[in-house]
This record gives sequence, structure tokens and C-alpha cells, in this order.
Amino acid sequence: MSEPFYVTTPIYYVNARPHLGHAYTTICADVINRHHAMMTDETFFLTGTDEHGDKIMRAAKKEGMTPRAYVDKISALFRELWPQLNIANDHFIRTTDPSHMAVVQMVLQKIYDQGDIYFSEYEGKYCFGCERFYTDRELLNGKCPDHQSEPEIIKESNYFFKMSQYQRWLIDHIHEHPDMIRPERYKKEVLAFLREPLEDLCISRPKSRIKWGITLPFDKDYVTYVWFDALINYVSGLGYPDDPRFAKFWPVVQHIVAKDILKPHGIYWPIMLKAAGLPVYKHLNVHGYWNVAQSKMSKSLGNVIEPLQLKNVYGLDAFRFYLMRDMVFGLDAGFNEESLVQRINSDLANDLGNLFSRVVTMVHKYFKGVVPRADLPIERELDLRLEETAARTVEKYIQEMEVLAFHKAIAAIWDLVNQMNKVIDVTAPWELAKNKTCQTQLQAVIYNLLEGLRIISGLIYPIMPETAALMQKHLGCDARQPFYKIDLLKQWGRLAPGTQLPKSVTLFPRVEIQKQADDNASNGRAKVLKPELKPEINMDDFARLDLRVATVVRAEAVPRAKKLLQLEIDLGEPELRTLVAGIAGTYAPDELVGRQIIVVANLKPAKLMGVLSKGMLLAASNESQTAVLTLDRPMPAGTQIG
Ligand code: MSP
Repeated sequence: MSEPFYVTTPIYYVNARPHLGHAYTTICADVINRHHAMMTDETFFLTGTDEHGDKIMRAAKKEGMTPRAYVDKISALFRELWPQLNIANDHFIRTTDPSHMAVVQMVLQKIYDQGDIYFSEYEGKYCFGCERFYTDRELLNGKCPDHQSEPEIIKESNYFFKMSQYQRWLIDHIHEHPDMIRPERYKKEVLAFLREPLEDLCISRPKSRIKWGITLPFDKDYVTYVWFDALINYVSGLGYPDDPRFAKFWPVVQHIVAKDILKPHGIYWPIMLKAAGLPVYKHLNVHGYWNVAQSKMSKSLGNVIEPLQLKNVYGLDAFRFYLMRDMVFGLDAGFNEESLVQRINSDLANDLGNLFSRVVTMVHKYFKGVVPRADLPIERELDLRLEETAARTVEKYIQEMEVLAFHKAIAAIWDLVNQMNKVIDVTAPWELAKNKTCQTQLQAVIYNLLEGLRIISGLIYPIMPETAALMQKHLGCDARQPFYKIDLLKQWGRLAPGTQLPKSVTLFPRVEIQKQADDNASNGRAKVLKPELKPEINMDDFARLDLRVATVVRAEAVPRAKKLLQLEIDLGEPELRTLVAGIAGTYAPDELVGRQIIVVANLKPAKLMGVLSKGMLLAASNESQTAVLTLDRPMPAGTQIG
């Protein structure tokens, strides 16, 4: 049944050009939006730009432009980028749109009239970069944690929003709606903020200091604080209050943001909605940060990744696939071109691309390019129950997409891809083709493989829409049918026997690393081993290490330690052991439970963040990624390695 679905991205500041981080969030929103279109929902997807405030005014000045001309220029960079990344937003909102500004004034007036806004003198520590006051508790060594600069003391009269009186309500609301903020770790973070008393929010800036903003409807000497202005885009973008789209889509809204703006979205925004008499959003989906060489992307570090450059070198669908596959939604990920190239060559060129060209080539070789008949008896063991596997894959894919576990949805599709490659190896159609009595089986095997490819082409549609369409064309699907709709993917046997297929194409050519100016790399391989090889050891040195197989029984985050996970492991001893590992940036705790890992079992115990770690797990790691060593088949816990 068709349900409404509404997704938003943050509206991006126009003080810098769009980069990989903005592209990631917007592609996530596009993928989930296309997924809902696939589920036959009625969808609405909003993105846009945040254009008021001091930060923007200063950026304009630096460029020697008026704020108006400057915001027009940078906003256009965002607006024009999205179609080039195949992002199909329904509306692009700008906070300088007169319709948005009118809604902000309307909401402010309503909250003011009901007595939730008051005027007061305030002296506080103000960070111009963040455009907000900081309490001492929030500062790190007296400095702004984001800008590493000392805030200035400012004394002024301002308008305040009575957030504090909604604190209890918000805590209760979050408890009553346990999946409102997800993944869970961010809900916990918001609840942790709420354990401290909430202060009222200063929602105005005097025009004597900042002119570039929306005038308060009840005091023409003040403009609205940028966050109060920006958050309202999510309702003004639907045409609130009168547009029927608002009534339809608001109750189901899902926001996607990164962890940097959790507080305004997890605290200010629900309280603003409550005060304005509007329902709170359904989900706030929070993802982690893409880092480059373990640092935040920043202009000053010169490590800003431009999405269009990557698209031009590696292809759009490969770029979208990499972003969705290599980040666990909610955790940080390290961007590096080597792993992008590896994903393209292994998952796309090797696994999917080869499967597709093998099957289509066989249709041409054995059946003159015509889809064979399938209503002949099929020898079940020959197709390794592809139909059942495909049905299970569709269910698993839906389940994972609903919770934005994109990497798991992709892994499920790739299980099917691998299963199909296995079917080809096991059934050896080239052998069947040699034997006249095996023609029925050959037809059945090829037909089932074609059907499997059709299902895969539908399932990859949200992530790789161009490749999906190309595959469909070469599978002879009816171009007039919306081929990705879920009911078509749940039915086996939709391809019409007798259809003539076009010649096969290469879906993903293999690629080589294109990175420039890396004097240590040639074709992606370092010429010099880094870090340098350690001094030689003999067997006795090695034998002093007691390496063992262990099974992870439980895993959880170590409180207040962003990078650490605490594992309870079974080493085949009478009691479980505790082990602490610095892998929380890459692995979610539940990903590890049940896995077998390799542990240095005789390492002297050490305390990490107050937890005694008895042993150390082995992992491969460089500056941007970490991979825990596991076994390729199960072994009893405690087995020695050597
Ligand atoms: N204007 C505010 C948002 C107002 S929403 C009502 C803002 N803008 S921003 O330009 O700074 O964008 C922040 C968002 O950009 C993040 O929340 C995230 O969606 C995206 N990202 C920016 N850098 C990122 C990474 N390095 N990695 C992942 N996403 C990042 O905050």
C-alpha cells in the first residue's frame, strides 16, 4: 500500500563549496528516498542551503561581495551539484526564500504570544565561528571545542526561548518513542545532555551587530538566531501551514544529519516543534563523519574531497556504491582512494560485472541471444534454489534499508551475487551445452540466472540507478514498466521467454588508482614498505607470543571513550575474559558478537579507561582504516595459532 514518506538533509551553510561530507548525507537521503519509491510509497525529499548569519556575512566580505550576491553564488553550487550526482530532490529550499522567512516570523510570533519568549540582559562567552554563547562546562580548556579559539565576552540584551521548561517533556517523549533518535548511541548522547539542566536558548542577535538575518516580528532591532531560522526549513519547505503537502508528509518526516549537529536536532528542534504546537519528527537518523587520513576534512589541512572529481574519474554509480558500502551508518569512516578502487575492482567489476557478462554472453552463445523457455521441468539441485535465495534477499534488503543499514543491505545483495556465481560454477552450463540430452537443464539454469540478475538490478536501483537501468535494458525488461517496484522483485519468472537481448556490455571496467602527487605510490602500490620493516627476529622470539582463537560473546562501548570497545571473549578457559580494543570507530558492538578473532593471550594485563584488558586482539590498521583478523572457518575457542 502506498504510504507517504518524507526525508530531509541538513540545509548546508553557504560559506564553503560542497564536499564529500555534504555529498554523503545527500546521497543517503536520495538512496532512502528511492528505496521508498521502490516500496511504492509517495515520497518527498527536501534539501537546501542555510544562508543567514554572521558566518555567511563574513565569508561574503572576504570575497568582496554583498551577502545577497555571495549566497546566490554558493547556493547555486549546491543546487547544481545534486543532479550531477543523480540526486532527485523534490524541492531545494533557501533560508533567504521570502516564503521561508514568512514562516519563521509566524512561528516566532506564535511562541512569543503564548509567553515562551522573554527579553533579558545576558553576559556570556560567545564564539563567532559557531554563532552562539558557550557555558564554561561546554568549553575545552576555555576554548571553543570546534574552533579552538577563546570565545569573546559579550554583554547584550536579547530574546530567550524558554527551552528549560520543556526539558522533562522531552526526556519523557524520547523514552516513549525509543527509535525516534537512531542509531541508539545518539539517543543515549541526547539523553546524556538532558541529564544536565537545560538553559534557555538565546534566539536573537541585535542588528547593531548582525544585519543579515530574519527580523524578529516583535522587535525590528533584532534578527533571528540562525539555528531558529534554519530548523524551520523542514516545515516551510513543505509549504506549512496551508499546503496540503504539509498535512500529508509532516507526520512521517525523517531527518538525516551527521553527529556534529545532533544537539540542535535532538534538543532545540523537538522543543521548538512542541512549543509551536506541531508534532515531533518521526526519526532523526544520525551518521558519523568521513575523515581523511584520520583528520576532519578542512580547507586549512588541504584535504577536502571534491565529489565531482571522484565521479569524473571513477564513475557516479561506483562512487555512490563506495559511500554506501564503506560507511556503517552511525560510525565514522576513513575515506581513501585505494579502498574505493578496491571496491570497484572486487565488488563491482569482479563479482557483479563478471556475473552479468557471463550470463548474457551465454544467452548469446547457446540461445542466439533469446531468453530461453522456462516452463520446462527444472532439476532443483542444479539451480541451487536461486528462487528461494532471491526471495530471502529481497526480505533482508527491505529490513536493513528500513533502518538505514545500507552496508548490510548491500552485503545481502552481494550474497545473492556470489550465490549466482557459484551456480554457474556448479552447473557448468558449457558442459550441459555439449550434451543434447541436457538442453532442458541448460535452459532452466540460464533462465534462472537471468531472473536472478533481474532481481539484483532492481535491488541496486536506489544506490546505483544508472547501472540498474542499463542491466534492465540488457535483460530485455519491458522499458514501460517501472522495473524496480518491489512487487515485481517479489515475483519470480517475470522475464518473457522469446525476448531478444542486446549484446552484453561491461558494467564496470576495472580501474587503477588515479591519485596524483603521491610520490610514494605507483598504480596504487607503495614502492617502499610503510612503516619500515622491524629488526629481524628468530623462531624463539615468535614462540614467546601465545596467539589463540577466541569467540566474542559480548561487546559494548566503553563509556566516555569514543574509540574503545569492551569485549567479553571465550578463550576456552573456565571464565570469559575481558578485552579492550580501539576499534569503536570502525565496528559497532553487535557486529562483533559471535565472530572468532585472534588474541595475544599471554600479554600482560593493562587498564584502559578504567577497564582491565587481559590480552589484545589482532587487527590490520593504517591511518584511515582498521580490519579485525578473523578465521575463514570456525575453530574451537582457545586453539593455538602458530
Ligand atoms: N547549516 C547547518 C545545518 C542546518 S540544518 C537545519 C550546518 N551546515 S553544514 O554545511 O555545516 O553541514 C553540516 C552537515 O554536512 C553534517 O551534519 C553532515 O550532514 C554533512 N557533513 C559535513 N562534513 C561531513 C563529513 N566529514 N562527513 C560526513 N558528513 C559531513 O551544519
